[in-house]
Amino acid sequence: MRQLNLFQADLSDILKEFADSTAEDRGAIFTRPEVVDFILDICGYTTTHNLNNYRILEPSFGDGDFLLPIVKRLLLSYKKISPEISNVLPALSDAVRAVEINNQSIEKTSSKLLRLLSTQGVPEKASRHLIETWIIRGDFLLTDLPFEFTHVVGNPPYVRHERIPDALIREYRARFTTIYDRADLYIPFIEKGLVNLEANGTMGFICSDRWMKNKYGGPLREMVAKSYHISGYVDMVDTPAFTSDVIAYPAITTIRRQKAGPTRIAIQPEIQPASLSELAHAMTARTIPAGSHVTEAENVTNGANPWIFQSLERLSVIRRLEADFPSIEESGCKIGIGVATGADNVFIGPLDRLQVEADRKIPLVGTKDIVNGTVDWQGKAVINPFGKDGKLVHLSAYPMLANYFKKHSKTILKRNCAKKNPKGWYRTIDRIYPDLVSRPKLLIPDIKGDAHIVYENGRYYPHHNLYYVVSDRWDLKALQTVLKSGIAKLFISIYSTRMRGGYFRFQAQYLRRIRLPFWQDVPKKMRTALSNLADSDDTETCNRVVFDLYNLTTSERASLG
Ligand SMILES: C[S@@+](CC[C@H](N)C(=O)[O-])C[C@H]1O[C@@H](n2cnc3c(N)ncnc32)[C@H](O)[C@@H]1O
Repeated sequence: MRQLNLFQADLSDILKEFADSTAEDRGAIFTRPEVVDFILDICGYTTTHNLNNYRILEPSFGDGDFLLPIVKRLLLSYKKISPEISNVLPALSDAVRAVEINNQSIEKTSSKLLRLLSTQGVPEKASRHLIETWIIRGDFLLTDLPFEFTHVVGNPPYVRHERIPDALIREYRARFTTIYDRADLYIPFIEKGLVNLEANGTMGFICSDRWMKNKYGGPLREMVAKSYHISGYVDMVDTPAFTSDVIAYPAITTIRRQKAGPTRIAIQPEIQPASLSELAHAMTARTIPAGSHVTEAENVTNGANPWIFQSLERLSVIRRLEADFPSIEESGCKIGIGVATGADNVFIGPLDRLQVEADRKIPLVGTKDIVNGTVDWQGKAVINPFGKDGKLVHLSAYPMLANYFKKHSKTILKRNCAKKNPKGWYRTIDRIYPDLVSRPKLLIPDIKGDAHIVYENGRYYPHHNLYYVVSDRWDLKALQTVLKSGIAKLFISIYSTRMRGGYFRFQAQYLRRIRLPFWQDVPKKMRTALSNLADSDDTETCNRVVFDLYNLTTSERASLG
């Protein structure tokens, strides 16, 4: 084992504690058997091959949901070529390696394996020997592996960054280049799995899809783009892929250590053995069978950029628009997010009832004020602790404010931003820019199926649950029509992660991906048509005018549906 960066004793204590922690803390979520079979099938770990020639790795085997089917397949395949099962030992010892950190899981799964091998006629001594050789006890991320693998499969643990002990994170960071920002534990699991694949080997895993588009996934995406091929992607959001309900947005991904190529894609398959087996065939057949729901996309990866799993046609529309038009911000529109206070119950309240000086209160607009597509203000205000110069006001100059904050000091002081900055303990998390109130703006709630864009004519300050767009160059009514069109949705759907129920996130980072012509390049007639359509529900006409704005060809229009 590589020299540890920490005092070995410290780290092993931490590891021991982690190994014995609750299933939740260890990120233990188990995979349904039909889903496991599907993953093994699409990775090509099937009994049509001599599986004893392969070396398969399960990095965190837990209760053996992958490991037992793997061994079943291995024995079946072995029996085909050598019915004499008693001499399996040398032939199969290198066929499997499986790692697990939790002792209880290891004991439980070892017993299951022993029973399985015995029912298949493997003598007990040989079985025990095999199990001892196959199973590696310890932390997968800190364990040396004996050789490279033809297959790596599993369901890596979901442990959020904040739940991993600091000393352990430091040790992982020293070993793995892909741990970035607030990366979950599954990120280095994927890195290590990929690094330990032999040429043409396949990794198949089910885990959260967030890294494929978000910030912390950047370095891992870059590594994959450089040296690997994403051969398959199955969106499992809203499917019962696991034996318990989970918060993560799961996807099954197969990555091969070979030159990049097309990616086969399927979305939300039915979790039934027969349909999954049919889907596995469509995902791996030389040509995609007619009538299957599998599609194929080229160039899914692009350096560290978010992955794009879209049909070639839609992708080429995006690429063309990206080449021909400036970004929405280059076209003079600013995108921001409303104020986060850290304690809304103190900083936000009915305007007429907040007991602070009048010039410290700013009318606030949130999602509840715009449910009907126009602003219907419910009377809330936010307390602004900042002066015109951008600095916090002196409480001595505002006796009512001082009194109010004193009364609520316990709650205010509990916030992280107050702990970090004891002098400025009464600041809101974000600074408040009162000038924003009087600017007309478009308001956009975060999670929505369709773009919900509301015009606000310059009377309110946006709350944290809203994004806003302001512009000195674009007419905001015309922009409203563009943003509620199929073009904006195309950009968001391609770059944003999808939430349960098929919703997209209309966050600033994705809104900024939208391309927009310069206002001075928009013909006068078109400007008027766009502004006039701002309040219209006629989606078809809005789309037609916006498609004209972007000079979409007939086939580009057809591909957007
Ligand atoms: C999501 S479960 C998956 C179990 C199994 N692969 C399945 O799909 O049913 C993750 C497992 O990883 C184990 N684990 C967590 N951290 C680990 C580590 N650093 N090394 C090895 N195993 C770990 C947990 O104990 C848990 O059993």
